[in-house]
Amino acid sequence: MSGSAYQDDRGNKDRSITKAGSPGSATGARRKGTAVPAPGGPFLIGENMTGGYGKGPNILENCTIAVDEGEIAVIVGPNGAGKSTAMKAVFGMLDLREGSVRLDGEDITSLSPQDRVAKGMGFVPQTSNIFTSLTVEENLEMGAFIRRDDFRDTMEQIYDLFPILREKRRQAAGELSGGQRQQVAVGRALMTKPKVLMLDEPTAGVSPIVMDELFDRIIEVARTGIPILMVEQNARQALEIADKGYVLVQGANAYSGSGKELLADPEVRKSFLGG
Ligand SMILES: Nc1ncnc2c1ncn2[C@@H]1O[C@H](COP(=O)(O)OP(=O)(O)O)[C@@H](O)[C@H]1O
Ligand SMILES: [Mg+2]
Repeated sequence: MSGSAYQDDRGNKDRSITKAGSPGSATGARRKGTAVPAPGGPFLIGENMTGGYGKGPNILENCTIAVDEGEIAVIVGPNGAGKSTAMKAVFGMLDLREGSVRLDGEDITSLSPQDRVAKGMGFVPQTSNIFTSLTVEENLEMGAFIRRDDFRDTMEQIYDLFPILREKRRQAAGELSGGQRQQVAVGRALMTKPKVLMLDEPTAGVSPIVMDELFDRIIEVARTGIPILMVEQNARQALEIADKGYVLVQGANAYSGSGKELLADPEVRKSFLGG
């Protein structure tokens, strides 16, 4: 009966999780690179990216990361896997030897980071993501550097999202706690009213409670209609809020699937989520 066949198709054995290099047919999973994109493709995609720093060796090997409208996509993987490098590549801070980056269907592979910001990309890098000697408010103003219009409303929205920043707006950002600094960094990126937000380890170095709060705020940002592509070392917690996840190993896609699928995958659990 077609009903039971459908059930079988949806059963445990047929997760849509993708393990790179494995033949897809055995479990119904698709091999990487063979996924059929939605009409128009993902909102932001770095596709089959290969490249490294300067004339150095390839750090990324045919790496693909993407986020769709309305989604939170999370990239996890061991230290040195190339997660930050992949984010930099999508943002235009790394010359690709192969592959491309598309935003809302447009090929932006050759654009500078500044031009990508003008196209609607917001990026919070892993390090040096705030001006420590400037006040919180000055940091937000710096974030609005490309805007010619009145950005007071945006600033108020950011203060509504992160009330502690309103309270501390006259304080030097360097005096804030780790979690508060990350709020400044995210707020700064939001000042350009981005169409997509990229975050590299937004919860690095904060306590579990602050991590939960930051994740809540990130979910809130996503609900305002800004898709989020984020790297996280708190893999388990991040995958819990992820629509889509990628495990990167040695610059390549090792696993990808929905957050739920990756959390349930025994191999992913054993190797990347601490069992
Ligand atoms: N600016 C750089 N110049 C040269 N090599 C770099 C640079 N940044 C990172 N790398 C190298 O690229 C590899 C991946 O680093 P990275 O992308 O930071 O990994 P992750 O973010 O997953 O921890 C590492 O081997 C690292 O040493
Ligand atoms: Mg990194």
